[in-house]
Amino acid sequence: MKCKITTFLAISQHIIIALPALKALLMLVFRKASGLTSQIDLFKRQKLKIGFVPTMGALHKGHLALVNQAASENDKVVVSIFVNPTQFNNPNDLANYPRTEAEDIEKLKSSGCSAIFLPDVEELYTNTIRSDHFELGHLDKIMEGLHRPGHFQGVATVVKRFFDIINPHKAYFGKKDYQQLLVVKRMAEKYHPDIKIAGYPTERDEKGLALSSRNNLLRESEKKEALIIYQNMLWAKEQVEHMAPSEIKKTIKNNFKVSPLGLEYVEIADAQNLIPLKNWDEAKQARIFIAAYCGEVRLIDNLSLF
Ligand code: PAJ
Repeated sequence: MKCKITTFLAISQHIIIALPALKALLMLVFRKASGLTSQIDLFKRQKLKIGFVPTMGALHKGHLALVNQAASENDKVVVSIFVNPTQFNNPNDLANYPRTEAEDIEKLKSSGCSAIFLPDVEELYTNTIRSDHFELGHLDKIMEGLHRPGHFQGVATVVKRFFDIINPHKAYFGKKDYQQLLVVKRMAEKYHPDIKIAGYPTERDEKGLALSSRNNLLRESEKKEALIIYQNMLWAKEQVEHMAPSEIKKTIKNNFKVSPLGLEYVEIADAQNLIPLKNWDEAKQARIFIAAYCGEVRLIDNLSLF
């Protein structure tokens, strides 16, 4: 009997050790939508819940946190990696965007990802690499919408195409791109009302810099300089009781003038609809948003003020 128990323990230990390796082996990679759709149909016939995390690759802990969150709430998680040309309004930005496919696949092997979708441009856009048109109202006219014309039309186009192909139960987006999250919610309300859209908190490094694929393009000294973004947002949060939104924005603009970063905008807005605030009592929840250039690299970040 004792011998049987020891043998059982030894075997189960091997199974436990082998489980992550087995899971990695079972991670499926699709480059064609048709193959992925057949697999999703199979999952759905088995009544499995599907979570979806769209990304542009160069994966970091922020992306992987979304994948883990999706894995904790679903039976299967699909992750897409696709650098979407229609959301880049600057051709240099598209050309320089970090592409690290092999490393990304390795990282996903030890995450909760069940299937990766790695389409090429033709697979999603056939002959015309152009955005569809979405009615995004005010969301397309302020901050990222204003400063990156066409960006959100490109985001809405590609996310809708992913939703058409995958039709997950729930899709996960980071609050790091808060305006994007609201754009996706708006698109999904109209075209995919059954898909739940989740917003996940921003992952930061130990000093507070928001993790971003674009951080790969920063020198170590620039990463330190970029901390001014988070420091100013934290300062703003402390000032809510003492200053009006316009005073906070004015001071932050001045702070950036004497810093190595080039401020593109600072805005304080209602977290529900992104309408800029003149007075604090205009909103139940407010956020501060900053976009700034650190050398050639454009960084965005935002923080809840209350
Ligand atoms: P990408 O920049 O790769 O980001 C993929 C997802 O990860 C987005 O939902 C983004 O908000 C989230 N994310 C990025 N940095 C994060 C961080 N530090 N903490 C938490 N989440 C973070 O956003 C895109 O790609 C694209 O626009 C996409 C939605 C894939 C459409 O092409």
